[in-house]
Amino acid sequence: MAEATNGGTDVFEIMHTTRSMRRLRPDPVPDELIRKILQAGASAANGGNTQRWRFLVIKDPAIKKAVAAYYKRAFDEVVGPRYRTSAPPPGVSAERYQRQHGAVEYLTEHFHEAPVWIVACIEDAAPPTRWSGASIYPAVQNMLLAARALGLGSTLTTRHLLHEKEAEAALGLPHGVHSYAILPIGWPIGRFGPVGRGALTDIVYQDRWGQPYPGL
Ligand SMILES: Cc1cc2nc3c(=O)[nH]c(=O)nc-3n(C[C@H](O)[C@H](O)[C@H](O)COP(=O)(O)O)c2cc1C
Repeated sequence: MAEATNGGTDVFEIMHTTRSMRRLRPDPVPDELIRKILQAGASAANGGNTQRWRFLVIKDPAIKKAVAAYYKRAFDEVVGPRYRTSAPPPGVSAERYQRQHGAVEYLTEHFHEAPVWIVACIEDAAPPTRWSGASIYPAVQNMLLAARALGLGSTLTTRHLLHEKEAEAALGLPHGVHSYAILPIGWPIGRFGPVGRGALTDIVYQDRWGQPYPGL
């Protein structure tokens, strides 16, 4: 699949090539591009259009370093061992999955070096639920698509939530605000490419669970 260039607008092309870009250059990203990404996020669907989302842009190296320590701890304790023993997901070869492990480890070591983070939050006294998540992840996906359309790399990350209290304290989030994702953003070192996913025939049914949808 062809690589979309900066400003490319074919939405299907962009969706099919918005894969996790974990190797990022530390070079600065213009605020104008970050503003476009944020505007895409704030255009998303959200419950009742209450717009309780808040987006914390982090550039301060000390804050990123403090949070990245929890991100790494979660890798060492939970995520690394899980990766090492898991099988490749549908549509992903063993070799590609191995490369992904390498990229995940790379991001773990270099998380704080991404020049800009966007922390997607919701300001709501109630504890996070499926509903609150449904009001922030559309914005997160819009931001990933916007970054990709601008030629910027990113990854949806939630691993800091394994040490939620400590990481959110390091982010300086006030009481009643919860983080749902951290998007490290930067110019990618590698190339964009197609995402690896399984066949629709394995996951789409019609009328009755398990009954094939003939429209595929
Ligand atoms: C809920 C969620 C949490 C994720 N958390 C992380 C994370 O903490 N670190 C990371 O490197 N990738 C994370 N990812 C990225 C997934 O690993 C990635 O989307 C998946 O492996 C598919 O790969 P692709 O995006 O390259 O197509 C997360 C994705 C989702 C949807």
